[in-house]
Amino acid sequence: CAQELARRDYADVVLVDIIPKFPQGKALDMNQAGSVLGHEPNVTGTNGYEETAGSDVVVITAGIPRKPGMSRDDLLATNAKIVGSVAEQVKNTSPSAIVIVVSNPLDAMVQRALQVTGFPPSRVFGQAGVLDTARYRTFLAMELGVSVEDVSALLMGGHGDTMVPMPSCTSVGGIPIRRLLAEDKLQAIVQRARDGGAEIVALLKTGSAYYAPAAATAQMVEAIVRDKKRIIPVAAYCDKEYGVGGYYVGVPAILGAKGVEKIVELQLDAEERKAFDHSVSAVKTLVAT
Ligand code: 2OP
Repeated sequence: CAQELARRDYADVVLVDIIPKFPQGKALDMNQAGSVLGHEPNVTGTNGYEETAGSDVVVITAGIPRKPGMSRDDLLATNAKIVGSVAEQVKNTSPSAIVIVVSNPLDAMVQRALQVTGFPPSRVFGQAGVLDTARYRTFLAMELGVSVEDVSALLMGGHGDTMVPMPSCTSVGGIPIRRLLAEDKLQAIVQRARDGGAEIVALLKTGSAYYAPAAATAQMVEAIVRDKKRIIPVAAYCDKEYGVGGYYVGVPAILGAKGVEKIVELQLDAEERKAFDHSVSAVKTLVAT
């Protein structure tokens, strides 16, 4: 994520990790890549938070990744402690920051960051839907043999096994997906998107996906830094919205300089509503735990 942002060349990036000297080494490597790729050396590595003070945007990726056979939910207890302590530092050093959480299990970790920082929910939210939608769009493009650039889609719900890809909000070059793809093929792709993270964990064996989560998070940072007002799926705090009642869940939202500027409320059909509610109840169980 740091490298994705460094390459855009419009922001200073500070990398923090608890491992002594490790972020310093990564920062040097990224800065040296800049002399080839054409960006200025704008990355700093550190083991403390002083260098991050006054950040506009903070991305929290801290936590352990899952191993083959684990679900994201198995990371709950360990990562809640880690995300809580990071959020505490962010609250003290960057009180005006917009915070994007990436750590898993995502929806519960964002709730933790909200509790600890006490920031308004418009400034605390999570990356999940851009990644999950990216997977869904990639599989559709591969199946149809078309450019992924023309595949536009939405995915809602929690970032877990219950996530809700939305074929009704999926189109290719403006053509509704169901006019291009048979239902059984579409449902197989929906399921592959749901399992997209686990598919990579099973292949890598030593960790989870990096490139797509990083690119997805950088896209969200860009929407904020450049005040783009993009409509993208965000793990946003929903209270009255969709009748969620005060939890984080993936919904379409307008992202700009103020963070989540508006949650877009769609009329869900009966099947979508059922799948969404099921996903929300999974998030509620995690938060309660
Ligand atoms: C994923 O889906 C790590 O949750 C992340 O790959």
